[in-house]
Amino acid sequence: MSVQGIDETQDRIDPPLLLRLRQQGPLLWTNPDLEAEPHPSALVERELAAAVDRLERARPLLRQLFPQLASRAEPIRSDLLPAAALPVALGLPREWGSLLVKCDHRLPIAGSIKARGGFHEVMAFAERVAVKGGVLPAGGDLTRLASPDARALLSTYSIVVGSTGNLGLSIGMISSALGFNAIVHMSSDAKQWKKQLLRDNGVRVVEHSGDYANAVALGRAEALADPLAHFVDDEHSIELFVGYAAASYELDSQLRDLGIRVDRDHPLFVYLPCGVGGAPGGITYGLKKLFGPDVHCFFVEPTASPCMLVQLAAKGDAPISVYDIGLTNRTEADGLAVGQASMLVAPLMRSRLSGALTVTDEALFGLLAKANETEGLEIEPSAAAGFAGPLALLQSPKGQDYIRTHDLAGCMRAATHVAWTTGGLLVPGPEQRAFLERGRAVESDLCFG
Ligand SMILES: Cc1ncc(COP(=O)(O)O)c(C=O)c1O
Repeated sequence: MSVQGIDETQDRIDPPLLLRLRQQGPLLWTNPDLEAEPHPSALVERELAAAVDRLERARPLLRQLFPQLASRAEPIRSDLLPAAALPVALGLPREWGSLLVKCDHRLPIAGSIKARGGFHEVMAFAERVAVKGGVLPAGGDLTRLASPDARALLSTYSIVVGSTGNLGLSIGMISSALGFNAIVHMSSDAKQWKKQLLRDNGVRVVEHSGDYANAVALGRAEALADPLAHFVDDEHSIELFVGYAAASYELDSQLRDLGIRVDRDHPLFVYLPCGVGGAPGGITYGLKKLFGPDVHCFFVEPTASPCMLVQLAAKGDAPISVYDIGLTNRTEADGLAVGQASMLVAPLMRSRLSGALTVTDEALFGLLAKANETEGLEIEPSAAAGFAGPLALLQSPKGQDYIRTHDLAGCMRAATHVAWTTGGLLVPGPEQRAFLERGRAVESDLCFG
């Protein structure tokens, strides 16, 4: 948590916005500092190139570690699904463009968007250890990480992470598969089934009272005390960030395959559920690099946990949390229950993010049920957040203002909206049925007045 008191934070956020955030109704905030061509970060550029290369080299290794991936040319790739019925159910007019779903909720093994960054960081660490230990030549064939001598070496190391759940699943699965000891620190309110699944896969789960940030801090402290431990730092890791960012190239190639153009007359809108900011931030970084002013990225956060919105809307660069403005950070969208945005990611979003919107938990369940009825999607509540994006742009004065300011009104019919569904594959059947039941009972439609 940051050190300001409530009085000081009042000065950092525009009073009408502060009031609306505290009322916890859905809202859209647009970013006044957005730049058409943001300046590249030398660090991210270097690490991103290395990540793209490593992820490509890792394909045979992943196929070897996980037999379920044996037939997949690209083991960690998700479908881009045209969705025709959902926009009708949401009340989106045809003139608003078309909707696609980027199905990271079906990513294998980890079941969420966290597969991308998490697998990348653990494989990068494994590669460093193996090269240093003399069991892998630098730049060598990564399948050697699955050899008995490499496994014996890796098994002397621990991988430690603090997580709301899905990053833990991702790190836990890849770490155990490579032979590392995997330790995941979670807040006690993290979903029980996620903890159980990790334990069933040989991961040590440490539960803490307090929130996600507390679990991260305690994990960090434990790892620091152990010279043979590597801490995956969800709040600061560049290797996670660039692992997520690599998905932007995947989206680019899928849009091309579908014959979808992205240019001045064919804008691309991408809606990303945001927790600490690493996954949506990495993807936004990559998409802005590829498409510049023709892509418009929006984060979606729970009304109780709008940490990135608060960080970017506040004056000055000092950290500010949702607790600082009197919010609880209590939400059913467990992957998004983060009080303080990543201070690695927030500065990178300052010039890149078009805006951020908030949704109530009730709306998330309603969207989850509509996505299931119309498109057969099985997703967790966090993953439904993106579907609120096109509505927020359409309905809110801020959204309309954004369309006008960027001179987009004339080309919205040719717009492509991508909602990134970020998790769901591993949700047990009874949990999924309970989500759907709750969502079907939601009566009110989403409204960003
Ligand atoms: C399902 C889901 N969606 C989105 C996110 C947000 O990712 P990040 O915390 O990197 O912003 C998470 C994070 O765990 C998640 O589990």
